[in-house]
Amino acid sequence: MKNILDAPFIRQMCATTGNMYRLGWDERNGGNISLLLDECEVSPYLDIRHILRTIPLGFDASGLAGKFFLVTGTGKYFKNVEHDPANNLGLLRISNDGKKAELLWGYSDGGKFTSEFPAHLMSHRARLAVDPQNRVIMHTHPTYTLAMNYVHPLEERSFTHTLWQMCTECIVVFPDGVGVLPWMLCGTTSIGEATAKKMAEFRLVIWGMHGIYGAGRTLDEAFGLIETVEKAAQVYMLTAHLPRINTIRDEELIALAEHFGVTCRRDFLGSPEQD
Ligand code: 13P
Ligand code: ZN
Repeated sequence: MKNILDAPFIRQMCATTGNMYRLGWDERNGGNISLLLDECEVSPYLDIRHILRTIPLGFDASGLAGKFFLVTGTGKYFKNVEHDPANNLGLLRISNDGKKAELLWGYSDGGKFTSEFPAHLMSHRARLAVDPQNRVIMHTHPTYTLAMNYVHPLEERSFTHTLWQMCTECIVVFPDGVGVLPWMLCGTTSIGEATAKKMAEFRLVIWGMHGIYGAGRTLDEAFGLIETVEKAAQVYMLTAHLPRINTIRDEELIALAEHFGVTCRRDFLGSPEQD
């Protein structure tokens, strides 16, 4: 067996959580990530027949039975993942009945998966239905995105439009826009269901006055989506209180989408404040 600490998926998870912590997005235990893995990626490092512990999920994940996930632990700090991956991460398989997680590695102090695992698994299911290559669900608390939640209408059309106007590349990076949920109680199956419903349409979902979810085929893709929203939100927060004398107009947004060959949410263009 190879040393799992050398596995690309562990190294990438360590690098990503470390970067997110250093960007100030993941205070204390804020944020969580789940990465879907293939059996052939896992088996060089672990005897996949050897289950360390079985942990009840508390919801039905039957559509994901037999799938392997690397998941951040509940209550664990992103800042600590790179120094002690075996304690802060867990590698698990969803049981055949979809009701349990079979722990194969990690959570070495007796811990368990993130409290947001319902939202993660339901979002994985929703994204896989749209894109069979989706592998990552990422949740974090980026500072400026969160700040913007308090001063901008929490409505997906205008929120997306404002973000698109803040940096030229936004409409190219997330032409599908940003879904928005109102404040909801976190760690519940109901916020999981609401998130998954949005994930059928969007790779980015704002949790009102809490944070953001991103989905992608790789850790870099999910991270890059959130990073681009956060940059746009930062520009918004640096300028929202100042008179706006220039803006990227809708015809310029359309030109960008056409030039870069992306299909944008045309119904998200136009806003009362622009024209
Ligand atoms: P966990 O520590 O359970 O992952 O929760 C962190 C968080 O961001 C809750 O939304
Ligand atoms: Zn959170």
